[in-house]
Amino acid sequence: MSIIVTPTRSDFAEGADFVAELSGINLAQTLQPAERDKIEAAINRYAVVVFRDQTLTDEQQIDFARHFGPIHSSAQRARHRSIKHRLSSDEIADISNLDGDGKVMDQNARRRLDWLANRLWHTDASFRAVPGALSMLYAHVVPDEGGDTEFADLRAAYDALPEAKKTEIDGLVAEHSIWHSRGQLDVTRYSAEELASLPPVPQRVVRTHPGSRRKTLYIASHASHIVGLPVPDGRLLLLDLMEHATQSRFVHAHRWRQGDLVIWDNRCTMHRARPFDTTKVRDLRRVTTRDVASTLEQAA
Ligand code: OGA
Ligand code: MN
Repeated sequence: MSIIVTPTRSDFAEGADFVAELSGINLAQTLQPAERDKIEAAINRYAVVVFRDQTLTDEQQIDFARHFGPIHSSAQRARHRSIKHRLSSDEIADISNLDGDGKVMDQNARRRLDWLANRLWHTDASFRAVPGALSMLYAHVVPDEGGDTEFADLRAAYDALPEAKKTEIDGLVAEHSIWHSRGQLDVTRYSAEELASLPPVPQRVVRTHPGSRRKTLYIASHASHIVGLPVPDGRLLLLDLMEHATQSRFVHAHRWRQGDLVIWDNRCTMHRARPFDTTKVRDLRRVTTRDVASTLEQAA
């Protein structure tokens, strides 16, 4: 059976190359090289791809991701938190609202505060020197209402900038830090050891996507300021770019169904979780591949 690619937003003049549904493949089975290449080509073109009605164990989800690059492990962060984890592998991130015992998290649970940061527009692991490339989020249990994930197309957002703005931001470097994004939610009490484990990193504000050769913004909630500009000026510039990039014409909301696997390309999109009744279970699990290098070592 061959993979069928159906663009989701073909009626959008500006968004036709953003989000596609891929059907005709069972991801639990060993991926063939031609299938891998077709999926990669779809990701390069559409940045977000959706597979419906999949049945995947954590191991199968990890095995599938491994075809697309080395996996970002959470071991580094987990080590600094003395909390019980529900999932056994460091290669899969628990994006649920469940605690280590599988119960809905208490309002003040430490991991809940981390998890709430997913509600801010962000791009996965941009606060690491070698950031995230592809994130693959699989839905085990979803609430009946709410809890969509929204995606913003940072290539289309870049294309739509006035030429003067493109010239202004060309070559700029932003500092990214997980502590900056957590601080936006008033989560600030970290140990010196935690802070030292993830120091701020520089990333390009504009980069070229290696798969599509399209220019794209690379910003979001971990980006705190611009290197070489006064902090308020850089922060305001970033806020303006975020506001521009999150206009509805660049944004797609994914309504989850159990069995969905959604892949997004962190190199050219932002995403955020939307609210839902958090007394209900939402069990999503994510595997993320590592980019090849810091954006500073990649093409501008
Ligand atoms: C993530 C994430 C958003 C969501 O898994 O990286 O940000 O809707 N998830 O759960
Ligand atoms: Mn995320």
